[in-house]
Amino acid sequence: MIENDDGSDKNARMARSSRATGQAQTNAASSVSISVTVNGRQHALTLDPRTTLLDVLREHLDLTGTKKGCDHGQCGACTVLVDGRRVVSCLILAVMHDGASVTTIEGLAKNGTLHPLQQAFIDHDAFQCGYCTPGQICSAAGLIAEGKAKTADEIRELMSGNICRCGAYPNILAAIQQAMRQS
Ligand code: FES
Ligand code: FES
Repeated sequence: MIENDDGSDKNARMARSSRATGQAQTNAASSVSISVTVNGRQHALTLDPRTTLLDVLREHLDLTGTKKGCDHGQCGACTVLVDGRRVVSCLILAVMHDGASVTTIEGLAKNGTLHPLQQAFIDHDAFQCGYCTPGQICSAAGLIAEGKAKTADEIRELMSGNICRCGAYPNILAAIQQAMRQS
């Protein structure tokens, strides 16, 4: 009986070891190498294919200006620009954007001069806690580039994916309108 228990323990340990080795091999084999340009700087990354673009920015590149709110595509806090188009980065798998160019809030100012939207948000006091602000500004940059929103209602509608829990919406609208006039 004792011999059987010892034998079972040994078999169990070998099975666990084998599984661990197999898992490590699977993990190594499933890592994916990509290259992305973020705010003009190229990065070569080897990633678990399940890594979101948001986690790449925050956890791999230390670009924590992009915020994680819901992590479910519902708040817009994680909005960045990918090849000029606004996306919620928590719903994007980074490996699907090999070769892409990403712009985050850290990349909007040029040569020490704030982006017109950044300046407009300051001018119109368009934030309170500021948590939604990077996403609001990146989304607004995408909105202006799209050129679809002409009226206040259209801006509200096309910015509706960006939630502000502080309720700074009137100020955000005014800031976007200012930046649109300058664009
Ligand atoms: S964190 Fe991405 S939409 Fe909320
Ligand atoms: S400023 Fe606080 S959530 Fe928008």
